[in-house]
Amino acid sequence: MTAGEADAAEKHGSHAGSDFVVVANRLPVDLERLPDGTTRWKRSPGGLVTALEPILRSNNGAWVGWAGVADADAGVIVEDGLTLHSVRLSTEDIADYYEGFSNATLWPLYHDVIVRPEYRREWWNSYVEINRRFAEEAAKAAAEGATVWIQDYQLQLVPKMLRMLRPDLTIGFFLHIPFPPIELFMQLPWRTEIVEGLLGADLIGFHLPGGAQNFLYLARRLAGAQTSRGNIGIRSKLGVVQVGFRSVRVGAFPISIESGRLDQQSRSKAIRDRARALRKELGNPKKILLGVDRLDYTKGIDVRLDALHELLAEGRMDPKDTVMVQLATPSRERVDSYVQMRGEIEKTVSRINGEYAEVGRPVVHYIHRPVPRDELIAFFVAADVMLVTPLRDGMNLVAKEYIACRSDLGGALVLSEFTGAAAELRQAFLCNPHDLEDVKDKIQAAIEVPREDGRKRMRALRRQVLTHDVNRWARSFLDTLANTGAAGRALIAPDEVGEPGQG
Ligand code: ADP
Ligand code: G6P
Repeated sequence: MTAGEADAAEKHGSHAGSDFVVVANRLPVDLERLPDGTTRWKRSPGGLVTALEPILRSNNGAWVGWAGVADADAGVIVEDGLTLHSVRLSTEDIADYYEGFSNATLWPLYHDVIVRPEYRREWWNSYVEINRRFAEEAAKAAAEGATVWIQDYQLQLVPKMLRMLRPDLTIGFFLHIPFPPIELFMQLPWRTEIVEGLLGADLIGFHLPGGAQNFLYLARRLAGAQTSRGNIGIRSKLGVVQVGFRSVRVGAFPISIESGRLDQQSRSKAIRDRARALRKELGNPKKILLGVDRLDYTKGIDVRLDALHELLAEGRMDPKDTVMVQLATPSRERVDSYVQMRGEIEKTVSRINGEYAEVGRPVVHYIHRPVPRDELIAFFVAADVMLVTPLRDGMNLVAKEYIACRSDLGGALVLSEFTGAAAELRQAFLCNPHDLEDVKDKIQAAIEVPREDGRKRMRALRRQVLTHDVNRWARSFLDTLANTGAAGRALIAPDEVGEPGQG
């Protein structure tokens, strides 16, 4: 549709556009500017894109987001059944809205204040302005009566803004990161605005029931809303918030991956051969330990390196037998806390290698760039022990990806209790990342697990991951949304709603 056609459609009170629109801070692809002045698209980092891209492609939907660089005038691009609407951000917008409020205020606040959140008014003003820009772009992209699904912490004001622009839409919101404990959320100077922003949606989804429960409490306390009583269970029993004449549903929807596809890919001969070649390139050690993360302080990369260092120092691990590979995608590289953490991790890697490596045989192989998908799958197939040790993580898809790639029932997963995934993956070697002795014990147990015990654990983990894939997640959210949105609003029974303060 041309701009002229869009204007004409608006004048006639109808909205041409897509019936299904995802709105996320990032598009699924980033625009890369090469030194010779040309550009190309590359896959964007992070789990949100991993999870949502296959859903959007199979629904012929539209995706509203930022192209990952300043002042990109990408406009509307149609690619492989997907319509991408690019939202332009200036260098200043990126500094204040993205690096500032999103990633130096909200990200640390929602991840247990692992680093101290900064509360700056100019960042907040930019967050409001950019959320409005996304809402306006979404309003243009959505057809009359469309379903719009808004994603993540960068866009928490968009549900309310979009509802004011387009009351005909059915609006969902999903938070991909943890929703914090009430006493931490209460630090935020703009806490009421955030809660009211989210309440513009018809359905608000969290990974875990605890997040949904915290939100219900805050809706009562900060927005003065009536809410349902009782605990929200993991089987998607919903809470209800009454906002004027509207009912907003709140529930838990643990996200997942395209597990069937990954399972198939990992069985291919090319991947098996590459996994064998990787083992050889690493010197055919007895055990390969693997970490795969964005380079983020929430991921506990330092925790696993410290554990490895102590295991080597105590002689509980032999550097001749064991190597660790840490794949770390660069992330948010202009935010101070990320710069500092990178320096510390790289120091620890070189310290371990300085003390325990031989020439041509490092103990820790550290790769600070994204790895192509096939290569990553080959690493998952090759690794004997997968180390997933975040201090806090909304879900952690890497843990699920590793399991999906282990049709041989080999491998062992060390998993932090502080990930959303730990609620489902109970047969992993669960550890408390704040307790270094526990992390060391669990790594050692995973390395030494008897074959039958290891296979039994992996079989149970695979059953969970293969039966709960990302399609099931999306269907569960979108079916619930369809029943609670414009069409389903009339269906809510009055006795679902209690008085403020109850519940
Ligand atoms: P987050 O969304 O916080 O980055 P997740 O574990 O949920 O964490 O998702 C990360 C996604 O990014 C996964 O799909 C993972 O495979 C991918 N990924 C992480 N690190 C790398 C890397 N070094 N190279 C390629 N892909 C990576
Ligand atoms: C996490 C967040 C996403 C984000 C991704 C990558 O998965 O939940 O919203 O897109 O990390 O982070 P970035 O800042 O590079 O977009």
